[in-house]
Amino acid sequence: PLMPLQTGFKFESGDAKWEFPRDQLRLDTVLGEGEFGQVLKGYATHIAGLPGVTTVAVKMLKKGANSVEYMALLSEFQLLQEVSHPNVIKLLGACTLSSEAPLLIIEYARYGSLRSYLRLSRKIECAGVDFSDGVEPVNVKMMLTFAWQICKGMNYLTELKLVHRDLAARNVLLADGKICKISDFGLTRDVYEDDAYLKRSRDRVPVKWMAPESLADHVYTSKSDVWAFGVLCWELITLGASPYPGIAPQNLWSLLKTGYRMERPENCSEAVYSVVRTCWADEPNARPSFKYLAAEFEKLLGNNA
Ligand code: ADE
Repeated sequence: PLMPLQTGFKFESGDAKWEFPRDQLRLDTVLGEGEFGQVLKGYATHIAGLPGVTTVAVKMLKKGANSVEYMALLSEFQLLQEVSHPNVIKLLGACTLSSEAPLLIIEYARYGSLRSYLRLSRKIECAGVDFSDGVEPVNVKMMLTFAWQICKGMNYLTELKLVHRDLAARNVLLADGKICKISDFGLTRDVYEDDAYLKRSRDRVPVKWMAPESLADHVYTSKSDVWAFGVLCWELITLGASPYPGIAPQNLWSLLKTGYRMERPENCSEAVYSVVRTCWADEPNARPSFKYLAAEFEKLLGNNA
């Protein structure tokens, strides 16, 4: 069904407490860009009870975004109001009242996306690039810590009955202290709001992170998030490589149905790989929960201490 064209944010009671004066927000450089949206670095004065100026990330639509993308930003705004966990990105405020395009003000993650951090850390290992920014080579312990933090954030979302639907290293941010923050809630849905699953706003589906049942039937559950988490673990282990190298997305589903799975990367222990493989069980209910996975990574961390 066509969505009505929205000209302003549709306000629900309670949104007002997030409203931030536009004149106390200064925008700076672009941090990230998608087809219809972008994230800019910004500086906010006296936001969310914080004294002085806070560096923030500001999410907005680009020119040419349609009402579907608009609704995705609105739903991200509404969803972020409900979440609070150390491993989930936090909403700080929003500018929705001014005549300009609506802005979401979110916590700034100084290391950017986990994928970009992993890829940058490769260069440090071989070329000795500047360490001063706190970027350091990712070792096994760090990888396990990242996986464990992501499990804890995802377990929190699961308990709120939220399905992320786009969990991938590109959608996890790395904040000060190397803390993983699950981000990008544009596609996240309440599991009870099932009609919203059927068609994505953009037809750019993240095929290589999707569970077989999502590829075949557009079914998204916390168990399909667990599948995506398995792919994310593979990204961690390979320091941000692109999954299923050499495999065309349109061939993936039938390949998975024959039982094919990505093999154990050379630097990955059998113990870690066996956990990752459980995430890729064909039967969704055979996959572990994020709670169980968090406990497994905690154990693996203990063994690697
Ligand atoms: N890129 C996208 N979102 C970001 C954020 N919150 N902090 C830093 N970089 C980002």
